[in-house]
Amino acid sequence: MKPINIGLLGIGTVGSGTFAVLKRNQAEIARRAGREIVIKIIADRDIEKARRIVGDGTLITSDANEVVTHPDVDIVVELIGGYTTAKELTLKAIENGKHVVTANKAMLASHGTEIFAAAEKQGVMVAFEAAVAGGIPIIKALREGLTANRIEWIAGIINGTGNFILSEMRSKGLSFDTVLEQAKELGYAEADPTFDIEGIDAAHKISIMASIAFGIPIQFDKVYTEGITKLTGEDISYAEELGYRIKLLGITKKTSKGIELRVHPTLIPSRRLIANVEGVMNAVVVKGDAVGPTLYYGPGAGAEPTASAVVADLVDVTRMHTADPKQRVPHLGVQPNLLLDIPILPMEEVETSYYLRLQALDRPGVLADITCILAELEISIDAMIQKEPKKNEEQVDIIVLTHLSIEKNINAAITRIEELSSVMGKITRIRLEELSSK
Ligand code: NDP
Ligand code: HSE
Repeated sequence: MKPINIGLLGIGTVGSGTFAVLKRNQAEIARRAGREIVIKIIADRDIEKARRIVGDGTLITSDANEVVTHPDVDIVVELIGGYTTAKELTLKAIENGKHVVTANKAMLASHGTEIFAAAEKQGVMVAFEAAVAGGIPIIKALREGLTANRIEWIAGIINGTGNFILSEMRSKGLSFDTVLEQAKELGYAEADPTFDIEGIDAAHKISIMASIAFGIPIQFDKVYTEGITKLTGEDISYAEELGYRIKLLGITKKTSKGIELRVHPTLIPSRRLIANVEGVMNAVVVKGDAVGPTLYYGPGAGAEPTASAVVADLVDVTRMHTADPKQRVPHLGVQPNLLLDIPILPMEEVETSYYLRLQALDRPGVLADITCILAELEISIDAMIQKEPKKNEEQVDIIVLTHLSIEKNINAAITRIEELSSVMGKITRIRLEELSSK
């Protein structure tokens, strides 16, 4: 059978990894796909860099339009990143009857609905395994492997850079900025690394997973997003003392009131497997009603781990290339006309547990004032610790762990406790998830 031809947009970290994996495992990949997969043309802004990576024999251009309109290209692999140009090129590729493979979660989280609709109209596929959790085949697992289940919740470490930073800070005592620089050098970070550290990248990914898990449209704009830049070493070590690790989690849950969709630093019991996921590794726990909790683990970023997912998509698309479009797996796992309009809960309505750290004067009655406010707002205390005052300081750190509480009640409690004359400064609030299998 004649080879399937690829047009590659962007030969940076993931593009060069994809080129290397396709070349190294060429014969094995062809055996699996049923045809040879050949990179026909590559576009990159830097032609000389591209030539150094691929050597002679492959067409290289600086004009990405040449790739998406090339008559011999069957599948366009979009690996340039970003929202605008990537979207325009993807839509143009689709318009020209090409299938698209992309690792671009930012583009899909923002424009997925439009892109999938265009692809369905043209009868082509848009595959995006690499867009969520790097090398972990989580899209395949959610969309196909778990298709019998009603998904109850997903919680994942889905940003490699963020997890790498938290792990290196905790285990080696390195500074935030030092580790971020390393993540950039290793090719983990986004072109704009604020996406990683402010939780935006994780929000892109959780919005895509929530859509597949619950059969709802992708709603990135409704994800509550909080990053790791405000975390302190103090909170990381207090959490350890209490038997927890802090991880940046993407969480989505189906509740009777609606769907929770959130990204924030989270205390997790350190005995949970996911609490021990370190470095650039990602892990996603998916709880299905039939299967129970399942865990997916692997590298969340980097050239070849991400290429592994890109090439898997290439093989999938090659296998399904000639199939009747109606028989293909729908982009979001359910038929496009059957997506549900389930409300996304505002953050104030979310129910979770909390770690609160405050500084108070070491005086009689202070704890009573705090517990009284919590009780009035129906917040039940799970544990409370008062630390020794630091040298030459009058105030002490008080740490409160709560049972499940509603976010708006916690907000009200924080406001009232901060107003107490015996309490100094702002209260640190970090959400806590037990992630138990029940
Ligand atoms: P890189 O910046 O390393 O690579 C992108 C490449 O595309 C660069 O060589 C860039 O050139 C080139 N490029 C950008 N715009 C154009 C254009 N208009 N025409 C031609 N070439 C262009 O990014 P990554 O490989 O890291 O990321 C690619 C995509 O994969 C992103 O969507 C990212 O979110 C996603 N991803 C990345 C992962 C990772 O570990 N790095 C993991 C999972 C997903 P120049 O440098 O000159 O701008
Ligand atoms: N910047 C992303 C991360 C790349 O660190 O997880 C993988 O999506």
